Amino acid sequence: MKGIILGGGNGSRLYPSTLVTNKLLIPLYDKPLVYYPLATLMEAGIDDVLIISNRRDLDRFEMLFGDGSQLGMKISYGMQEVPTGIVSAFLIGADFIGEEGCALILGDNLFHGPDMHHLLREAAKASEKGLATVFGYEVEDPERFGVAEVDLEGRVLSIEEKPKKPKSNLAVTGLYFYPKGVVEMAKKVEPSDRGEYEITDLNNLYLEEGVLRCQNLGTSFWYDAGTFDSLLEGGEKIKEMQKGGEQVAAIEAIAYRNGWISTDALKKVGQSMAKNSYGQYLLSLVK
Ligand code: DAU
Repeated sequence: MKGIILGGGNGSRLYPSTLVTNKLLIPLYDKPLVYYPLATLMEAGIDDVLIISNRRDLDRFEMLFGDGSQLGMKISYGMQEVPTGIVSAFLIGADFIGEEGCALILGDNLFHGPDMHHLLREAAKASEKGLATVFGYEVEDPERFGVAEVDLEGRVLSIEEKPKKPKSNLAVTGLYFYPKGVVEMAKKVEPSDRGEYEITDLNNLYLEEGVLRCQNLGTSFWYDAGTFDSLLEGGEKIKEMQKGGEQVAAIEAIAYRNGWISTDALKKVGQSMAKNSYGQYLLSLVK
């Protein structure tokens, strides 16, 4: 299965921090924001990833990850000239996706928790069986998000984009798993009133076909790091979580656990950052 990280837009909500760089390249505590969504895709077992960004920032992502081989992965890059909507990711990525299923993660969405690994693997398996998966998370301000209404058996009844009167407090987070055929499905989405190709409209097409699952994230942690405050709070949360010594979104560690890189490769990265807790953590895995 393929994976896409969407990191376009002009990041104007975070100006002046993002005047000359991409939101996903500014740090969340101790690593660039993009490490977190990449780690999520890697936890799902996805080793072929397309990073979509704007013309200004794309080469910076390439400087950071290259072709992905240092992670035992394949990482490629796609350009979104104008932010016309989240669904555009599947049109930009059409050749990359080919005949496979595809996961999409919004670059500023953070997921973490003991259940995540299992939930992600399950969503990847479901996509092989022709099912699409979205992840629901209970929030106090659902009107800011896509909102799912789910019955007692966990069946999705409706999904609405930023409803004024939400039917539940279950926000649809920015992580989506689709079966093969997603490019054709994405082509059916029409622009919304605000002129964007909305991800909620794509999810509704899967809902109409009866193949949409909504997986509740339960005790896992989800964060949309789109504002100054949420960046700060998210960073503090990561710091707190890492106090016990475990690193969140240490991508080389995940590649190592997935069997994608050797002990020597892990050691090399660890040594290159041995002065800080990130490098020391990687080296601790080698010992
Ligand atoms: O965070 C989860 C929410 O993300 C979902 O609950 C909503 O259903 C979904 O529409 C989306 O809502 P947002 O209001 O957060 O969408 P926004 O337009 O802010 O875009 C989310 C990210 O995707 C943002 O980091 C910029 C990027 N993006 C967005 C668009 C529209 C692109 O890279 N290209 C685009 O064309």
